[in-house]
Amino acid sequence: MKKYSTLLFEKKGKIGIVKVNRPDALNALNATVLEELSDIFDKIDKDDSIGIAILTGVGRAFVAGADIAAMKEMSALEGRAFMLKGQAVMQKIETISKPVIAAVNGFALGGGCELAMACDFRFAALEAKFGQPEVNLGIIPGFGGTQRLPRLVGKGMAKMLIFSAEMIDGEEAKRIGLCEKVFPAETLMDETEKFANLILSKGPIAIRLAKVAVNNGVNADLPTGVSFEAEACVAPFGSEDRLEGMGAFLEKRKAEFGDK
Ligand code: COA
Repeated sequence: MKKYSTLLFEKKGKIGIVKVNRPDALNALNATVLEELSDIFDKIDKDDSIGIAILTGVGRAFVAGADIAAMKEMSALEGRAFMLKGQAVMQKIETISKPVIAAVNGFALGGGCELAMACDFRFAALEAKFGQPEVNLGIIPGFGGTQRLPRLVGKGMAKMLIFSAEMIDGEEAKRIGLCEKVFPAETLMDETEKFANLILSKGPIAIRLAKVAVNNGVNADLPTGVSFEAEACVAPFGSEDRLEGMGAFLEKRKAEFGDK
């Protein structure tokens, strides 16, 4: 695996663990971090030895936002290119063929909250801090925050958070649907890995199709969504996974799925 200057990567069994590693800048997203995230998630997508990814941060932040020092020097055109690059990275994480869980260990602000929202779901430390504080800087979210936040928490709550720049902790984030589970900081990674292993025990083709069906469906009307679902549901009927899963149930044993 390539050496990254702003990321750490390790494999635990079939789990790929990506850590943003710029703790001195609270893991702020500059152009290098975005490029490296894009590269690592391409590799995770293609690597058959990885079935799921966990994204987290080194130190006291998950990611404290896009890099403000870098953005201060950008012209409007450069800023536009930076936002489009950030959006492309979020889109990549959201659409790779494997699940990606955000383990939000600390600050997830601005681009950090947007990065967490691009993951399939979020587990957080109780003391994590979520927020979209861009209006404090005279801008608005640019890596998808105005679009993904209302889809997760509803229009009113999203506007409240974006207009106020208010930071909320893990418990409150869970209450409003911005994260799915909260844990004490010391157990966050263990619990996230445990859950990742639970997903790895399921049919891998089914997990891939479920990700696409949910993602496509939330951006479509109900008839389009359920029509896609029917096609995606029958797609694995020709697979070994389906024969194994249904056979195991009827034979009252645990299913043993293949690798792909
Ligand atoms: N971009 C660039 N650098 C950042 C950063 C960001 N988004 N967030 C934090 N940093 C840097 C700080 O400048 C500081 O660097 P320094 O030690 O060289 O001065 C270092 O990270 C530590 O941050 P600091 O502000 O001293 O820590 P704190 O505990 O007092 O506050 C935060 C933590 C997260 C509340 C505060 O750093 C903050 O508000 N960050 C910006 C959040 C934001 O607006 N994000 C949206 C960007 S679009």
